[in-house]
Amino acid sequence: MTTSTTPRPARPRPQVPLAVWPVAQTSAQYQRAGRYLPDCTAHPAKMLPELARRIITEYSPPGALVVDVMAGIGTTVVEAAAQDRRAVGVELEPHWADVARANFDHVLDPGHRPLAEIRVGDARRLGDVLGDLAGTVDLICTSPPYACDAGNMNKANWGAGGGLCPSATRNYSVDRSNLGHARGAAYEAAMADIYAGCYTLLRPGGILVTVTKNTRRAGQTLDLAGRTSTLVRRAGFTYLAHVVALHAAVRDSQLVARPSFWQTNQVRKARNRGEPTHLLVHEDCLAFRKGTAHAH
Ligand SMILES: C[S@@+](CC[C@H](N)C(=O)[O-])C[C@H]1O[C@@H](n2cnc3c(N)ncnc32)[C@H](O)[C@@H]1O
Repeated sequence: MTTSTTPRPARPRPQVPLAVWPVAQTSAQYQRAGRYLPDCTAHPAKMLPELARRIITEYSPPGALVVDVMAGIGTTVVEAAAQDRRAVGVELEPHWADVARANFDHVLDPGHRPLAEIRVGDARRLGDVLGDLAGTVDLICTSPPYACDAGNMNKANWGAGGGLCPSATRNYSVDRSNLGHARGAAYEAAMADIYAGCYTLLRPGGILVTVTKNTRRAGQTLDLAGRTSTLVRRAGFTYLAHVVALHAAVRDSQLVARPSFWQTNQVRKARNRGEPTHLLVHEDCLAFRKGTAHAH
């Protein structure tokens, strides 16, 4: 018989998600192996598929309309379509858009392939390229250029005394209108236009998620997450969440970093100069809502 002093069995509580996502338990190469085409390797700043999947499942339901306004080789579009969302990407470079399309054909089965689309266009003029979707998008998930010198590493050339990143591969394209080349005020003005365009694209209550990484230049950290949050709020969004996307594997209570060769090299050089620099092992995943925090 139960008495008032008998402890009641604990009621199961729904798990509360953490704002740290361990998205690199397996390496980027492993996450892409057999799914993404070898041509993708050349793109210097791809989103981890696990991070794209996580953003899409946390911030949109199946059947939603997901957009990436700077889609690269289309990781977010692939992962959204594979999870039963309609997904549309915009990319400035026809070459990367072609690679993205080839990926859709390669990765997505016939039931999911029609859900994925990429359009060539300039994210600064979203009305021109996505005007038909204005006010209807549920989630925009995008990763802008990081205002740093992204490029393809050529270790053989570097080992022979040459540069590590051939200049023709820097900043996504030799085309100076690619925002990979933009820095400082020019970068911020362009991104402000893009976030204003994102606001118009989203339905009321729709979500924008940005993925950025703080970078170092001339011994200083560029707080890109902070700058991004300011720009996006100025466009009228409410700031909902800051999630740390962990680019290190958690192994037996240790963090095993997965830095690029480029980053390790830069940090070693900085420490040799006496600068107390660390390896960055996370990206900043910032979530915003169109309208007030409780609007739906
Ligand atoms: C950080 S990468 C995004 C990578 C993407 N998340 C992926 O996984 O492939 C940024 C992309 O923005 C593109 N880009 C730069 N300026 C642009 C613009 N004005 N309009 C559209 N895309 C642009 C670059 O060519 C690059 O592919």
